[in-house]
Amino acid sequence: MRKNLAHMKNDISNALKQSMKNIDSYTHVRGESIYVDDVNVREGTLFGVVFDALKAHGKIKSIDYSNAEQLEGVHRIFTYKDIPGENQIGGVIPDEPLFAEHDFHFWGQPIALIVAESEFIARQARRLIKIEIEELPVITTCKEAKKQGSFINTHRSFNLGDTEKAFQECDYIFEGETFSNGQEHLYIETQGAYAEPLENGSIKITSSTQGPTIVQKTTAKVLGMAMHKIEVDVTRLGGGFGGKEDQATPWAVMAALATFHLKQSVKLVLNRHDDLRMTGKRHPYESTYKIGLTKDLKIVAYDVEFLQNSGAAADLSPAIAERTLFHATNSYYIKNVKTTVLSCKTNLPPNTAFRGFGGPQGMFVIESAIAKAASEIGVSPIKIQEINLLQENDEFSYGQIATEVEAQNTWDSAKSIFDLENLEKEVEAFNATHQDFKKGLALMPIAFGISFTNTPMNHARALVHIYQDGSVGISTAAVEMGQGVNTKLLQIAAQVFSIDSAKVKIETTNTTRVANTSPSAASSTADLNGKALLKACNALLERLKDVASEELKTSKDNIIIKNESVFINTIKSDLTWTELISKAMLKRIALTENAHYATPIIHFDKTKEKGHPFAYHVYGTAIITTTIDCTRGTYVFDDVKIVHDYGKSMSEGIDLGQVEGALVQGIGWMTMEEIAYNEEGKLLSNALSTYKIPDIFSVPSNIEVIPVETKGNEMAILKSKAVGEPPLMYGIGAYFALQNAIKAFNPKYKLKFHAPMTPEKVLMNLYE
Ligand code: MTE
Ligand code: HPA
Ligand code: MOS
Repeated sequence: MRKNLAHMKNDISNALKQSMKNIDSYTHVRGESIYVDDVNVREGTLFGVVFDALKAHGKIKSIDYSNAEQLEGVHRIFTYKDIPGENQIGGVIPDEPLFAEHDFHFWGQPIALIVAESEFIARQARRLIKIEIEELPVITTCKEAKKQGSFINTHRSFNLGDTEKAFQECDYIFEGETFSNGQEHLYIETQGAYAEPLENGSIKITSSTQGPTIVQKTTAKVLGMAMHKIEVDVTRLGGGFGGKEDQATPWAVMAALATFHLKQSVKLVLNRHDDLRMTGKRHPYESTYKIGLTKDLKIVAYDVEFLQNSGAAADLSPAIAERTLFHATNSYYIKNVKTTVLSCKTNLPPNTAFRGFGGPQGMFVIESAIAKAASEIGVSPIKIQEINLLQENDEFSYGQIATEVEAQNTWDSAKSIFDLENLEKEVEAFNATHQDFKKGLALMPIAFGISFTNTPMNHARALVHIYQDGSVGISTAAVEMGQGVNTKLLQIAAQVFSIDSAKVKIETTNTTRVANTSPSAASSTADLNGKALLKACNALLERLKDVASEELKTSKDNIIIKNESVFINTIKSDLTWTELISKAMLKRIALTENAHYATPIIHFDKTKEKGHPFAYHVYGTAIITTTIDCTRGTYVFDDVKIVHDYGKSMSEGIDLGQVEGALVQGIGWMTMEEIAYNEEGKLLSNALSTYKIPDIFSVPSNIEVIPVETKGNEMAILKSKAVGEPPLMYGIGAYFALQNAIKAFNPKYKLKFHAPMTPEKVLMNLYE
């Protein structure tokens, strides 16, 4: 799996880039990395457990807490009545109470927080609470929500060209329906927070959140306090995957609420069952499409309606719906496009951000439409994909003109480097000689826009201290969640100052050091925070060069700081980095810098649904082959061969890890991970025995990732493109590879677009 590293000789000039391994790897392996549950709690810390609705929709007639309250060790039970500020945690739309008041809207909705001397006691107390409810009708599907007019907000629609007219001129028109299910984040570290009282009523919260400012702002609102009284600190997360962008907030707010009243430290960490039941997931989508092609297989018209299962409150659904529209045509150019999305209000937990943020759901539909068209016309879908690839200066449906497009390049490179023709022949030959096993192959190109879709969120700050001994401390808004952003930040500082990476420390993410931050999300964390950091470091470097120029009595233009020494052009002086810092200290030069970066150029006008929302796009093409066992319906992915657009990767090992991890997570979503709610809105896949994610045995036998040679994009940090989310969408190819294998066994099989394609479904389709 690692042999691809050898291929990655992408003009990396700085040795640091190649040698730097994830700075967390040492403490991770030794079990020394700190998560919320590892924080040393203060003496007298209390523990919280959430009491939640165990039906999906209803009115609360009465709740009797008395038995629970009387249990020894229980300190207090908090409900909406204890909220001094607003009982409101909705970020995009104020439609979500922290605690249910008189009615509840999803199974798992928090009603109260039990605080006790131990989590065990709080759990026991939970069982003693008596609740009387009146059940109300439950909606779990988009279709039902649409029928009943149950929506989160008004629909959105992007338009390009004249779709209706274009359909009249098509040689082929196909219509269909698709479904893609949700996905559980399954971060290894469950949701949690630890709140402690500081003096004068201030509260410090240690939270497992991607968005420290969201936690700070929401806590202040619920407690009716100023934001400056709330300090949020994050060391790192044991995974977030979008599940902690908005949904880390309630637990932190609850812990803080209890601390506010009790003036004691309170820890609230959800156990896995509570986490699975109470938190939202990737949005299921039910969609209908109509695709029109000319005789020469050019897609000229595409009309799609996405029904997004938003759950019981908005959460980030409107923004996720918007990204679905942005990615509805994936890496293809279609002249006439009409896309509509409706965010359907149902009685599921509010669904939320998940790697790809609605993009994958949009791409699944266009790939389904292409597969359907190909099957009906009787050509390979690969042909239709290829003919319609996005080219330089093509227009996206949202008005952005595509530039530095690598769609064709990655496609052609994948075909030639991996010898697609031969791969296809191998699959054919295998299928011709095997009855019980069949192979299938599919290509999956991707184009993913980088920037928060909400333009005002695209900014960040960095605070850099050079200490008088020459060591450096860095604070930004970046939250480390396994994606390696801290390593990238460290590289930036070490590179600008040309000092040993051991001299640089990445501090925790803390709202008192770096304020008003966007969450670490949208794959933009390294770009935004890295660019701010670059600015801060460069400003300090300029100041230090002034000092050196004075000290060495030479023009500043001649000064170069390299390998912890000061050079006058090529000649090494006696002045070292450490001495230079001492001199600067004596000269009373500021050794601290705070810088701000806001992505230039980007804009979007929602009244016209046009603009230039993305700093750039990430491209790539994957070839996926699968073998299915036609007796059992089980399958393996033999090979995933990818040509990926890293720009110029600044951290090859980390970026490769992101591609591999995202790919496997995407394959999991499309194949084996099956979220199941019953008609009453109860989560059936409520444990790891009923919810299966890819393990080491289901990882493709061979993953090869080759970087495409490009000049890199200026908007990306050190031209190293964002990598966190895009490769997840390679996994969509797995679905289509499976369908092709099924078809090889059962020619009567009618293509279905209902993900995930679990082994059960494969088996049924084989013998349909
Ligand atoms: N990788 C790991 N190991 N853990 C995570 O939680 N989150 C993903 C991706 N890669 C995640 C991850 C998601 S959803 C996003 S948006 C990006 O990382 C966020 O980090 P970045 O902006 O630094 O890429
Ligand atoms: N990605 C992730 N989170 C977001 C986005 C996005 O594009 N927009 C708003 N929040
Ligand atoms: Mo990622 S879904 O933007 O946290």
